[in-house]
Formats: sequence, C-alpha cells, structure tokens
Amino acid sequence: SILVPSVKELGKEGMVKIPARYTHPDQETPAVWAGAHQSVPVIDMQSLLFGDSRDSELERLHSACKEWGFFQVANHGVSNSLFDILKSEIQEFFELPLEEKKKLWQQPDDQEGFGQLFVVSEEQKLDWSDIETMEAYSLELKRLAITILAQMAKALKMETEEMKELFNDGVQAMRMNYYPPCPEPDMAIGFTPHSDADALTIVLQLNQTEGLQIRKDGNWVPVKPLPYTFVANVGDMMEIVSNGVYRSIEHRATVNLTKDRLSIATFYSTNLDAELGPAHSLIGPDNPANFRRVPVEKYFKDFFARKLNGKSHLDFMRIETQ
Ligand code: SIN
Ligand code: FE2
Repeated sequence: SILVPSVKELGKEGMVKIPARYTHPDQETPAVWAGAHQSVPVIDMQSLLFGDSRDSELERLHSACKEWGFFQVANHGVSNSLFDILKSEIQEFFELPLEEKKKLWQQPDDQEGFGQLFVVSEEQKLDWSDIETMEAYSLELKRLAITILAQMAKALKMETEEMKELFNDGVQAMRMNYYPPCPEPDMAIGFTPHSDADALTIVLQLNQTEGLQIRKDGNWVPVKPLPYTFVANVGDMMEIVSNGVYRSIEHRATVNLTKDRLSIATFYSTNLDAELGPAHSLIGPDNPANFRRVPVEKYFKDFFARKLNGKSHLDFMRIETQ
C-alpha cells in the first residue's frame, strides 16, 4: 500500500476544488433511486430469536440476504450507552492534531494504523481511546455476528455443525472510516464501489450523515442511518458458503458538502484454518458447486494481492459453467 495525505487536512486548507488525484469523473452520478418505497429491510433480533413470529422473521432475513445482500439490525441487545461512548471517543480521536494521529500512521504493507484506511484489530493495543470500550464493543459484535450467521445457516438449511466449524473461532477485524466534508462531493468518492471479502460485515453509522449506498437493480440505493441500529451485509465468503444463494452486494460511500461522516465496520470471517467453499450440506448432484474450494489463508492472500475493484475477487473464485 502507498501512504496518502490525510484528506481531513486537505479539507482544512479552505479549498474549493479538490486535487485531481481525488476526482472520479467517470463515476456514475450519485443520483439515486427515487423509489423510496423500497428500502433495506430491518430485521428485529428479538423477534428473530424469541418471538412468536420467529419463522416469519427468519423468512424475512432469508429474502433480505438473497435479494438485497443487506439488512438493518434492530433490537440487537448492544446497549445505547456503549454506542454513545464509542461515538464520542472516536470523534475525539479524529479531532486530534495530525501530529498525534501520525504516531499511528499506517506503514506500507501494514494492515493496521491510521492512514486513508484506519484499521484496528482486536489484538492491537492503542492508547488513543479507552481500550475497554473497544474491547467491549468488539466482544458484543462477535456475539452478534455469530448469532446472525447461525440464523442464516438455519434459513439456508445448512448443517449446524458445518457452520460451527467454519465460524465459531472466526477472525474479526475492524475499520473506522472518517469522511470529512468535501468541496466537490459529486466529483469525489468516499469509498470506492466494492464488495466485502469477509463473511458478515456489521457497520455502525456513528453520526446520522447519509453516505452508504448499495447497488440494487442497477441503481445506487442509500442506506438511511437509523439511530442505534446496525447495517449488516453478506460478504463474499458467505456468498461462497451459501453457493450463491446469498449475495455479496457492491456498495460505496459518498461524501457530503458540509457534513462529515463517521462509520465503524466490523468484519467477521471464518477461522484461518478452515477451507472455504460451498457448504457440503448445500451441494449435491442437483446442486453443483458454483465456487472453488481453497484454504482460507490462500483466499486472503489472493485478496490482498488484488486491487479493490468491484466484485472481481469473487469472480476469481467462481467456477465457469457453459
Ligand atoms: C464500507 O466499509 O464499505 C463503507 C462503510 C461506510 O462508511 O458506511
Ligand atoms: Fe464494504
């Protein structure tokens, strides 16, 4: 990876035009779908797990994963106060002088640190924030990810044991995204269109600024931030495990003229010793595998060797049929 200047610092210089390096004139206009009657489904974890309407909520989860690849997660059991503390600590971090943040500057080929992408892993110890908050959040998110993945397995009619083997000791990583206001929002992109390489991503839009958009039927559909609600999405790994029944959808983040935006993405993947491929319990003579089977470590190695570009990584795993 290459070190890039801090976009927040560029913005401070009162510029009205963004440097050419940040313009994407070929990007599809941010104009989005007018069909506001259709929006990303909201799944209620309480009714999914405990209610009388468990079966119908499971069916809603199943179609969300097939048709949208995205859903919002309400009633998830993560306390509102944890959200509030996390938000104020992360905001504080991004308000730190550049000199302070530079101490955590991302090194080439390093997955962790501060840079254009700010990445922390569960293991990493940083002193910029109350580590207890991050640890509490990380644990809560791991619990939530495993719960959601188990419900997906149930909906897919996948063998429970197979799901446990893949995901019980899964790997979790986090990335915080800060998008400063941009003088030419239509010319820039906050996060380039991509699909996620992990199994399940859970995003918290920390302030109420819109920006996340997903590709649906050829349009870019905004995912409205709802208070104390997560956005979850199927990643490439889960598209592969489900043999293509669930969809890992392309998404992007746009930027705003006056408002900044903060989000924190938590990525949950299989354990590193696993083998990645369509679940054995979902393939058979009538259901041939649509994806190759590779060791998870090789999958990630290949992924990081490629440029983030739409869904090209998933296509690389696909078995061509003619
Ligand atoms: C992403 O991680 O794909 C973008 C998340 C976001 O900023 O909403
Ligand atoms: Fe993403």
